[in-house]
Amino acid sequence: MQTLYKTNSPQETFELGEKLAQNLKGGEVICLYGELGAGKTVFAKGLGKGLGLKEEITSPTFTLIQEYELEGQELKFVHMDLYRLQRPEEAEVIGVTDYFKEENICLIEWPEIIQDLLPEERIEISIEGSGELPREIVFTAIKNLVE
Ligand SMILES: Nc1ncnc2c1ncn2[C@@H]1O[C@H](COP(=O)(O)OP(=O)(O)O)[C@@H](O)[C@H]1O
Ligand SMILES: [Mg+2]
Repeated sequence: MQTLYKTNSPQETFELGEKLAQNLKGGEVICLYGELGAGKTVFAKGLGKGLGLKEEITSPTFTLIQEYELEGQELKFVHMDLYRLQRPEEAEVIGVTDYFKEENICLIEWPEIIQDLLPEERIEISIEGSGELPREIVFTAIKNLVE
């Protein structure tokens, strides 16, 4: 299933992330695709806000993985930015797949590098557009329908 959204400002992209958060329960893996400057981190910040985080999330570019406790819920928001990963083996070393579990909501910027490690069931979001242009944002729910 695919849905297309169009956002005309960073604020609208932020709000789309905020709205998606309302439908998450835990265990989701959200893969965010798009070039540098597409708006992945803007979307991630909106998602964090929608999940109830009080402070704005920071870009985890240097840490790769940043975890946030969601107060009052037994859940964590895990924000990954794999831009700096050179090889998928490095992802295994830092234990990326250990984060894919029911108690976590994972959002991954630059998931391409770990394509083979991604769970079969995931949400893929791709953001097209750059600079001050509107963004086309496509949500795809990828689900294994035959177990
Ligand atoms: N419609 C839009 N949605 C998201 N970001 C936008 C939009 N229009 C302009 N921008 C700008 O594009 C940049 C996106 O940056 P960022 O979210 O850090 O990108 P990424 O994480 O994909 O590299 C920000 O400077 C933001 O203000
Ligand atoms: Mg980013």
